[in-house]
Amino acid sequence: MRPVGSDRIAGFGTSIFTEITALAVKHEAVNLGQGFPDFAAPDFVKQAAARHIRDDRNQYAASPGVPRLRAALADDWRRLYPHARAVDPASEITVGSGATEMLHDAVMATINPGDEVIVFEPAYDAYAPDVAMAGGVVRAVPLAPPDWRFDPERLAAAFGPRTRALILNTPHNPTGKVFARAELEVIADLCRRHDALVISDEVYSEILFDGAAHVPIATLPEMFERTITIGSMGKTFSVTGWKVGWTIAPAPLTAAVRAVHQFVTFTNSAPFQEALADVLPAAADNGYYPQLRADYARRRDLLARVLRGAGLEPLPIGGAYFLLTDIARLGYTSDADFCRKLVTEIGVAAIPTSVFYARPDSAPPVARFCFAKKDETILAAAPRLAKLRR
Ligand SMILES: Cc1ncc(COP(=O)(O)O)c(C=O)c1O
Repeated sequence: MRPVGSDRIAGFGTSIFTEITALAVKHEAVNLGQGFPDFAAPDFVKQAAARHIRDDRNQYAASPGVPRLRAALADDWRRLYPHARAVDPASEITVGSGATEMLHDAVMATINPGDEVIVFEPAYDAYAPDVAMAGGVVRAVPLAPPDWRFDPERLAAAFGPRTRALILNTPHNPTGKVFARAELEVIADLCRRHDALVISDEVYSEILFDGAAHVPIATLPEMFERTITIGSMGKTFSVTGWKVGWTIAPAPLTAAVRAVHQFVTFTNSAPFQEALADVLPAAADNGYYPQLRADYARRRDLLARVLRGAGLEPLPIGGAYFLLTDIARLGYTSDADFCRKLVTEIGVAAIPTSVFYARPDSAPPVARFCFAKKDETILAAAPRLAKLRR
């Protein structure tokens, strides 16, 4: 019998998140691996969804997204970036099934077979498979610890006649790096010179620390017209299971994204889209965002204390909800071995960051711990991690 899978998916395998989660369940580990909150979602968010389900907003939504939601997203863009170009909700916003679908749609909509796509490594695990499904080729440019800067010359050298796009992620998973405006200007300048698009994954845009500012690359001069900005409600409102994501892009790019979206999912859940339309203006009014950042700063500090107690010094971060630690200090050379031992013997799940590299052996030995967790969850890891010292 012929292999059942297409050539396109050869090598995709099972994601490390699935493997570590299964090990965490089997060994009853404290799960600081996968990036989702284990605390309750905010009441005003849950009530909005319940209301729209009760009010029977339960049939197919318009394919590009519920009009009220697209209007609310355009308003939010104006509120957050008042000096940037305004966004037209009718022709420049598309809503789909989480950032995951929107990344896939954006790549399929713009990448031809043989096109090159630049990504910074470590890279979120969906980017390379999306590019592979489109027949494109990834060109990786490293971010170097501890501050995860890129070498501008190395980035410039990655651009060539086949470069079609660059995938950016800021705030960055897994490193917590928030790209500074000066870094974005270097990227933007190269993209303009080489006529390359930017697919900018900004799902952690609201989770920022110590005064770090999130700058969408689309707000830089002449960048809106070549950028697809991707957002998601999952991280911002602690509802990763709702899967509402969106793209903001100029009309021609939006038309291309919608051409894919209509045949991938056509539309996503109507009541959750209606809910987000209520939640966005409410959150801007009720002090939700400063509270979100204060809560995450507290959880970050708590996890940092727990890690330090185990001899694991966390690297500094500007955003997102992960802390990374160099595990070479504990004598490990492979972060995958460390994380397998951690989950099976110590009883704590973390993610080896080498899985965010095309060539895992080129990665620094660093483990990722998620602090989108209740205080009790983080504290439950403390006595277990302390065993590492022995
Ligand atoms: C960088 C990044 N992009 C995209 C996603 C997926 O977002 P969504 O749940 O909205 O599909 C995640 C989720 O972990 C992420 O970390």
